[in-house]
Amino acid sequence: MRRSDLPEDFVVGTATASYQIEGATREDGRGESIWDTFARVPGAIADGSTGDVADDHYHRWAEDVRLMSDLGVDAYRFSIAWPRIQPDGTGAPLKAGIDFYRRLAEGLRERGITPWATLYHWDLPQALEDRGGWLQRDTAMRFADYAAQVADRLGDVVTDWITLNEPWCSAFLGYASGHHAPGRTLGSTASHAAHHLLLGHGHALEALRASSSTARVGTTLNLYSVQPAGDSDGDADAARRIDGLSNRLFLDPVLRGSYPADVLDDLGETAWFAENATDDDLRRISAPIDFLGINYYSRHTVASGSTPAAGAPASAYPGSEHVRFVRTGAPVTEMGWEIHPDGMVDVLRQAHELAPELPLYITENGAAYPDRVDEDGVIDDGARTEYLEAHFEAARDAVAEGLPLRGYFIWSLMDNWEWAWGYSRRFGLVHVDYRTQKRTPKRSARWVADFLRDAVPAS
Ligand code: NOJ
Repeated sequence: MRRSDLPEDFVVGTATASYQIEGATREDGRGESIWDTFARVPGAIADGSTGDVADDHYHRWAEDVRLMSDLGVDAYRFSIAWPRIQPDGTGAPLKAGIDFYRRLAEGLRERGITPWATLYHWDLPQALEDRGGWLQRDTAMRFADYAAQVADRLGDVVTDWITLNEPWCSAFLGYASGHHAPGRTLGSTASHAAHHLLLGHGHALEALRASSSTARVGTTLNLYSVQPAGDSDGDADAARRIDGLSNRLFLDPVLRGSYPADVLDDLGETAWFAENATDDDLRRISAPIDFLGINYYSRHTVASGSTPAAGAPASAYPGSEHVRFVRTGAPVTEMGWEIHPDGMVDVLRQAHELAPELPLYITENGAAYPDRVDEDGVIDDGARTEYLEAHFEAARDAVAEGLPLRGYFIWSLMDNWEWAWGYSRRFGLVHVDYRTQKRTPKRSARWVADFLRDAVPAS
């Protein structure tokens, strides 16, 4: 596999998110986010850490841009921390916050790297959560206002925008299972948060379009390839449910302007949606986007069972508590996520069938492994390189099949604060020593750099 096996204008980038890398959580007027609060809840984060320092990227961004320049990437997907712009989630934007992202975007452009900004990668201002967070319709309006302020001030240096990152996680890990901030366990009521997130996307899209005629706007969903474990009707129904809740509940409103009736029924939320998800909302949510971002990591193989399997993330799937997540025996990463590159083609196909003209991007793909720094300071992460190469091959196959895949972003540029796992999971191409903040490109980074220069031997 060589880079030249991909189309010439195929975009290859790296991705990160504000709370996972920036640190400096109390600087320059930044307000509290729900993750600042959640990380302090005893037991919420595996290693008891917070993102207070993280990769100290707020101070070291220039070095990080240089690292990307060495990798030779075309683009960088980062996120803007809403609490740096509006500390309480409303009002005039903070100049220091805007200036930080302007410097970053300009620094990227100077090195020929196109900035892709995500407006919401999970760090909701705590003040808005105190008023009900995404369970409140008003949060969607606040989000639109924030998006407008950012677009008005950064629209000259950023043209590629992603409204939301993985609304399934925000809604269902945040408000159903409680594994993520704000840590609420409300079962199927979490779907109300999903609707308000999508409504926020629709309003933000409108605001971005109004602010800049050159903006390219999309949104990013986390999609899974879902397959039944066996041939039984029960297993088929389990697959329908999980595909419904993790994929179709988001794809359908954005790409077809309607919610999937079977999923609302599984959730027991048909009446709420009939009353609250108005035609007007759905028109907004399904307004044309310029591209769809897909974060792809793994496949779910599911079966029907009368009791939930131990350890299954059932609470994140309200209405499907009886579904068992089955291990296939295929290799997994340190997250326990099955490695299944062909699944990336499955999810691209699924999106493409709904919107045949829409350009698609893989806005995240990558792997956590227990990296070791050897005596010579080398991090020989061959498994990560293999993972990435296999997924580049899947991208090549997708393009060859005629799917409009236009780019691929590696998660992540560097090791960072992996949410509920804290610093205990490393996804980076670049190793970060959290005691010294020293950055060391891993072997996989060298492979990516060679690949991008088209200097990787064909395999
Ligand atoms: C999804 C999220 O967008 C990102 O923040 C996270 O670190 C990676 N996937 C890995 O879990």
